[in-house]
Amino acid sequence: MKIMVTGGAGFIGANFLNGLVPELREHQFINVDKLTYAANLGSLKAIDSLPNYALRRVDITDMDGVDAVFDEFDPDLVVHFAAESHVDRSILGPREFVRTNIEGTFNLLEACRKRWSGDDNRLFHHVSTDEVYGSLGDTGLFEETTAYDPSSPYSASKAASDHIVRAYHRTFGLPIKITNCSNNYGPMQFPEKLIPLMILNAVSRKPLPIYGQGLNVRDWLYVTDHCEAIWSVIQEGRVGRTYNIGGNNEMQNIEVVDTLCQIVAEETNTDVAELHALKEFVTDRPGHDLRYAIDASRIREECGWEPTETFDTGIRKTVQWYLSNQAWVRDVLSGEYRKWMDLNYGDRAG
Ligand code: NAD
Ligand code: TYD
Repeated sequence: MKIMVTGGAGFIGANFLNGLVPELREHQFINVDKLTYAANLGSLKAIDSLPNYALRRVDITDMDGVDAVFDEFDPDLVVHFAAESHVDRSILGPREFVRTNIEGTFNLLEACRKRWSGDDNRLFHHVSTDEVYGSLGDTGLFEETTAYDPSSPYSASKAASDHIVRAYHRTFGLPIKITNCSNNYGPMQFPEKLIPLMILNAVSRKPLPIYGQGLNVRDWLYVTDHCEAIWSVIQEGRVGRTYNIGGNNEMQNIEVVDTLCQIVAEETNTDVAELHALKEFVTDRPGHDLRYAIDASRIREECGWEPTETFDTGIRKTVQWYLSNQAWVRDVLSGEYRKWMDLNYGDRAG
């Protein structure tokens, strides 16, 4: 099989490729990635010289570029990770989110529609987020039937992309599947997101900026569990169907930060009080969703998927990964990253 992965140099795409390329030598993989700030070729070192892997630098908002890579590779399966993915960036600059997440997804669908007419052996797998459902109150879970109610430009752009993917199935019969997953954490995540940001700031004794009171709740899933969930839906899921993916690990942000202080202290022989003293409650994110939580019974029952990591095991592995991959971290903490830190945190009261 020929498998096209978009956004394979980003956090989840790279974990997906690192898991599958060496295992599935009989399949060909092509990684279609614009290589934005969020991409890191250092995440692909273990696979980049394997004969069943190739990279093409393509911006999915460029239809000609998309057509060219489809003509070259003729994929049987497209696993679509490429996106602008950070909520805070979507607040400070929404345009790229509309372009990449909506128009880019549309271009990929068009490329498939033009080539796959009537061929049911192909599949477009769309990787999406639980943030499309908006915010929960203190109780309840997101189900696949929950109405879309996105709050941020990021989640609104992902919601729009989900709708277009579904429309291409209903209108043109394109074989698609969609997964909507909760918050991921793990190795190779760009440190603008909560968990790697807190780990690296704690290690270098910088402030730990907690939005509002730190009471917002996220359901955390270790990234390789997400990758295995996607693969299980590709193999076992029904065409045209949506599957929610979640880890049953609901935690308030403040609990996550406290846990990270504890583990970083243990792993680096530091006094935990010194790390707790770095916590700062800062101006909240506008439109900050209170709580996300997932009912993952459909994927469990139809695809037989269960997460293998608990939050305790996954979070320790994650801290250890950042501590022992200094070269990857150094590469990431470039000028571009420092500019982002000034832009996002500069005006928040410390
Ligand atoms: P990421 O930001 O780490 O990586 C995104 C990748 O997409 C990068 O390699 C980037 O270069 C590439 N990309 C961006 N714009 C592009 C364009 N115009 N053309 C081609 N490539 C482009 O994102 P991630 O955290 O790995 O998320 C991957 C997917 O999973 C996204 O679709 C996201 O919405 C979804 N998702 C993420 C999470 C999470 O917690 N991170 C949870 C659920 C769903
Ligand atoms: P994030 O990792 O950006 O994921 P998402 O917004 O997609 O859920 O944020 C996770 C939670 O952590 C979210 O409630 C916002 C909060 N947060 C902070 O408190 N401080 C920070 O510096 C960041 C980046 C996030």
